[in-house]
Amino acid sequence: MGLQIVDKLIANNKKWAEETNRNSPGFFDKLAKQQHPEMLWIGCADSRVPANTIAGVMPGEVFVHRNVANLVVNTDFNCLSVMQYAVEVLKVKYVIVCGHYNCGGVKAALDGKQFGLIDNWLANIRDVYKEHKEEIYKLDSYDERFDRLCELNVRQQVYNVCHTTIVQNAWARGQELTVCGVIYDVADGLLKDLDVVVNSKELLNEVYLVDK
Ligand code: CO
Repeated sequence: MGLQIVDKLIANNKKWAEETNRNSPGFFDKLAKQQHPEMLWIGCADSRVPANTIAGVMPGEVFVHRNVANLVVNTDFNCLSVMQYAVEVLKVKYVIVCGHYNCGGVKAALDGKQFGLIDNWLANIRDVYKEHKEEIYKLDSYDERFDRLCELNVRQQVYNVCHTTIVQNAWARGQELTVCGVIYDVADGLLKDLDVVVNSKELLNEVYLVDK
């Protein structure tokens, strides 16, 4: 007998694998050979926002990177490596940044309270807050300000994806790549389109353009 939690994981997994094989015979045989995901998903590490589940897609359909508050930071080797592999090797056609309402990371940035090392990571959200301070201050309630900062954070991360050389070089090569933002409501399980779609360098501020 191993750890109880591991025993439980293995039992749940066995049930899931059997069910999946029953519903789609040959599913794992096919996936074992290769993956061809059409999209890269950049989402929050929050336990309530599992990418495949909320997007309603099977294993093999989405390449995933998650971190606290779905941030794309230009010094984050981890996120950049995921993006580079997804874009240049897997040749995904879409990068989806998915934020969510009630994000603890966004709340911490909004409230200005310390939680530890993570406050330095969340400084990236305070940059978004500062950039849009006037708009956020105009909103009447705390909840509205919180929701709006969650949305504005997604929007900024979409642009941060596009400011990388990874995405700009893909466009320069003529590779079709669309970066967009959605937000998930943990209260009703629904995704909302934030109507932020970037698919060419013409949509970027010129100061972020880095020609090869
Ligand atoms: Co979150």
